[in-house]
Amino acid sequence: MQNNVLILDFGSQYTQLIARRVRELNIYCEIHPYNHLPDDLSEFKAAILSGSPFSVRSEQAPHPDLSNIRGKIPVLAVCYGAQYLAHFGGGKVAPSNTREFGRANLSYIKDDESFFEGIAAGSQVWMSHSDTIQELPEGAVRLASTDDVKNAAYKLKGETTYGIQFHPEVYHSVDGKQLLENFLVNIAEVPQTWTPDNFVDMTVQNLKEQIGDGKVVLGLSGGVDSTVAAVLLNKAIGDNLYCIFVNNGLLRKHEFESVLKQYEGMGLNVKGVDSSARFLDALAGIDDPEEKRKTIGRVFIEVFDDEAHEVKDVDWLGQGTIYPDVIESVSVKGPSATIKSHHNVGGLPDFMKLKVVEPLNMLFKDEVRRVGASMGIDAELLGRHPFPGPGLAIRILGDITAEKVRILQEVDDIFIGGLKKWGLYDKVWQAGAILLPVNSVGVMGDERTYEKVVALRAVESTDGMTADWVHLPYEFLQKTSNDIINKVKGVNRVVYDISSKPPATIEWE
Ligand code: XMP
Repeated sequence: MQNNVLILDFGSQYTQLIARRVRELNIYCEIHPYNHLPDDLSEFKAAILSGSPFSVRSEQAPHPDLSNIRGKIPVLAVCYGAQYLAHFGGGKVAPSNTREFGRANLSYIKDDESFFEGIAAGSQVWMSHSDTIQELPEGAVRLASTDDVKNAAYKLKGETTYGIQFHPEVYHSVDGKQLLENFLVNIAEVPQTWTPDNFVDMTVQNLKEQIGDGKVVLGLSGGVDSTVAAVLLNKAIGDNLYCIFVNNGLLRKHEFESVLKQYEGMGLNVKGVDSSARFLDALAGIDDPEEKRKTIGRVFIEVFDDEAHEVKDVDWLGQGTIYPDVIESVSVKGPSATIKSHHNVGGLPDFMKLKVVEPLNMLFKDEVRRVGASMGIDAELLGRHPFPGPGLAIRILGDITAEKVRILQEVDDIFIGGLKKWGLYDKVWQAGAILLPVNSVGVMGDERTYEKVVALRAVESTDGMTADWVHLPYEFLQKTSNDIINKVKGVNRVVYDISSKPPATIEWE
């Protein structure tokens, strides 16, 4: 990969955000743990040093060897990075006396610095640190200050190295993107060639070379990642890609049939396998959430393995792993980077003995959608809400039966269909219905009923890590509740979940 930016991670919660902002400038970048630098640095045109939860004065603090970077390529050091260069370059870093967390404004910006081009004094920045740079190394030039932070930005002498105390990657730093652009485009002259179309061309070419005449099996889930991975692989190797789409009987109403048809319409070599009965049999009587997940995972592997064996001489397993899964599995905290096992990374059962191909493992979720759109994948499919692998099993509290699945599919269909009809679907990150393991008393006509309660859940989120319940219009909730109770036999009460995450979670199990 040419024209690359190296992001050196010291463990900051914002490191991924830096990468996303760089990619938004159509510049390719990679995150590497500070203590595991790539051997070949020749492809990197600039480096960004991230923040860190550590103080540079602490003994466990990261001490990167920057000798192959500094003075060789332009460097932007953010927060911890800036303090590290100052502290070990002859300056002084000490605990700060005043609060330096949250919004601040640059009260001073040095004139005529290309680093701050287009950014005026007063610009709001985001601070998050408890140490402060009291003295700069000798010869370093102060480029900006806030009322509380004298050395908010500086440039080192004799090298193209900049330090900033604030976080340009956080949206609250309103000119953060401009600053990154100034550094990467104007100063480091990194070309802005990272676009979805280029990614598709380059990836398809690479996949052709990597796989050649080999055969790939890939499990489709109906979700965005596996679909985009499949379309890329299909472009590269055509019908040597064997897609397997398993119906575990826990999908949404009609989902299996309609998504399968969509896949076929996209020209994918796909086999739909209806294993609903096998999953439901295995789940019978199980009410513990983790036991449900394990059972579904085990049966899926069995079904997938059976199907993969149907393909003669298969060499590869395709996966829709995306970049956040890869980054999560690399830890910078230990003395050397350790690779944790992660459910998506290299997650193939031993007995399958296949090589893994992951065409999306360098992309963020929004980039996956952009790549999907650039290949002409249907916007409705790309805009789908996330849906958990265990499906409705973890939305049926207690044990699972075919009848409960049917009831929940009907309820979910009315809820999701309503969100679409009312133009609310795209405003919600994820929505679904939950079948509760309680009956409640109701009255229909002259009859007393004793039937199931369902909960509706709709959340706003950016990554699923935190979430807030959506303030859906009362009129919509009223209509949806009426429709559900009138149309779905076995349900006489609807409630709406108003819990945020944390402390609740998105799913109920
Ligand atoms: P929670 O409930 O942890 O969910 O707040 C966060 C996101 O993860 C999804 N989720 C799962 N996805 N297998 C999956 O593939 C699972 O076992 C699972 N559990 C939760 C959930 O739907 C939400 O998007």
